Amino acid sequence: MRDSEAAWHEALYGRSGFFTGGALPADHFRTAPHVGPELAEALLELLSRVDSALGCPARVDFVDVGAGGGELSAAVRSLATGSLADRLVVTAVDLAPPRPLPGVRWRTTLPPSVTGLLVGHEWLDAVPCPVVEWPCADPWLTRWWPLRPGWRAEVGAPRDRAWARAVGRVTRGAALAVDYGHVLADRAAGRYREGTFAAYRGGRRVEPVFDGSCDLTAHVALDACAAAAGGDRVLVAQRDALKALGLTESGPGGGANAGWAASTTSVAASVAASASMAASMAVSRSLRPRPVGGPNSEPGTGAPAPGVSDSRPGTGAPEPDHPTPGVSGSGSGAGAPWSRSGALSAGTGSGAAAWLAAAERASRVAELRAVGGLGSFGWLLHGVGIPVSALLPPLAPWTGSSVS
Ligand SMILES: C[S@@+](CC[C@H](N)C(=O)[O-])C[C@H]1O[C@@H](n2cnc3c(N)ncnc32)[C@H](O)[C@@H]1O
Repeated sequence: MRDSEAAWHEALYGRSGFFTGGALPADHFRTAPHVGPELAEALLELLSRVDSALGCPARVDFVDVGAGGGELSAAVRSLATGSLADRLVVTAVDLAPPRPLPGVRWRTTLPPSVTGLLVGHEWLDAVPCPVVEWPCADPWLTRWWPLRPGWRAEVGAPRDRAWARAVGRVTRGAALAVDYGHVLADRAAGRYREGTFAAYRGGRRVEPVFDGSCDLTAHVALDACAAAAGGDRVLVAQRDALKALGLTESGPGGGANAGWAASTTSVAASVAASASMAASMAVSRSLRPRPVGGPNSEPGTGAPAPGVSDSRPGTGAPEPDHPTPGVSGSGSGAGAPWSRSGALSAGTGSGAAAWLAAAERASRVAELRAVGGLGSFGWLLHGVGIPVSALLPPLAPWTGSSVS
């Protein structure tokens, strides 16, 4: 019988795997890049801080590892402005078939060298790992998830290795992992005693099967990933990081747009409600499972509990860049999901359309910063050759993405 990590890998990345078979993540679950352009705006602010700290090199990379449909890459490419836009090279890395997007190069492996910002957005939770139950003698569990009788867990070592490899490709700049996950204190206290292995299909959580018909995922032990990659780093909540980068419900820069934001609070709430209804067919995978004892705790997922394996997903040998056919240079935004003008329309126009756009924007930012939702995702940020303190101010440490 195959082990769970190999079965998980085959189910997602085999010949008829869920992702390699062509499933578009946005058709099955909702991530922050699907919400709107605001995450890309914040990451462009982070990239511009990286760029300044590097002394504005001739080429600046934005590398989107586990890019999925490429929404984040496309938005970053289309929203970049000025000198940064002229020097920016956007690369999407995914094992799945590339999606042609203006100004975005696709690869199936990590680039050999990155000068700029490498981002893994909801990538590590899709890196297969062993799903086990007590008793299991594994050094990773001893260090990061000590088990007790009846407990299940995921052995995070493959995610640690994947993240360390990715950070290792950054020559100068920063690496950022954004994901849902947990920390040692909660794991050891038994908040996840049933493990977090879960499956999604068509916007719904389903019973996990290993036949390529559904997405398979598990929360990420981001504290273990941080230790594996080492170096100068912080692990903070998305909600706090976005605010530190100027993205609040009152808009980038806060003060200038605070007036319209305040005046649109109630309409923003109703727009948010409709947005949430519209999104109900594509749920965030962070919404479940809840930790044991939390307000929405639920029974086990029926995950198997076989042995440990050291096979892991390929981010191996470097390969040449493959620019999207017929596309080169800086993207104009044509064909991209979010346009520069669209992103900036909130708060700069006049009349009912501008007012509604502002309210919609406020609701999207609220979704990105929601406590217990996307706002409680972890941001693991490493500086390579530049201090993290040049990128973010001191922020409270992240305590996990589930709030009880
Ligand atoms: C959960 S999806 C996230 C997609 C996108 N980043 C987002 O947030 O919407 C995870 C993606 O990571 C990709 N992936 C997983 N392991 C990978 C690897 N080793 N190299 C490249 N891509 C990988 C999968 O194919 C999938 O598209």
